[in-house]
Amino acid sequence: MERTFIMLKPDAVQRGLVGQVIARFEAKGCKLVGMKLMKVDRALAEQHYAEHKGKAFFEPTVNYIMSSPVVATVWEGKSVVAIARELMGSTNPAGANPGTIRGAYGMDISRNVIHGSDSVSSADREIALYFKTEEILEYDKAGQEWLSE
Ligand code: CDP
Ligand code: MG
Repeated sequence: MERTFIMLKPDAVQRGLVGQVIARFEAKGCKLVGMKLMKVDRALAEQHYAEHKGKAFFEPTVNYIMSSPVVATVWEGKSVVAIARELMGSTNPAGANPGTIRGAYGMDISRNVIHGSDSVSSADREIALYFKTEEILEYDKAGQEWLSE
């Protein structure tokens, strides 16, 4: 089953949005298989955003996700990578659809509430950065048969 890595960024935790954001993934039908509140150190932050090294927003973005605790999560489901990106909305909350998480809760690209993997291969890489194998739990979730064939 496909998995994705979702991080509730420091602004989500500081603004008390953790429950509301998690609720959207649960309501959609995504299955929570990993979750922790943690501080991101510089080495991890730089690995997380390695693809953006050299860009003007790299250093501010690394500092942003190190600035205060985040909630790191892993979700499972059919096409969950693409579904999560749809739930999140576009990178800049100023122009994101207000029905999306970034559109509903954010004002500015530098504080956009949430991170989500952009592909299955990014998800594999990011999950491995943040979670040990044994921190991803396998369990049967009630009602899965009502979500897809
Ligand atoms: O997070 P997403 O995949 O939607 O966007 P990205 O292009 O991979 O950029 C990663 C993160 O860098 C964004 O989520 C923002 O936090 C930050 N960023 C920024 O602050 N200013 C930009 N012009 C672009 C990205
Ligand atoms: Mg990205």
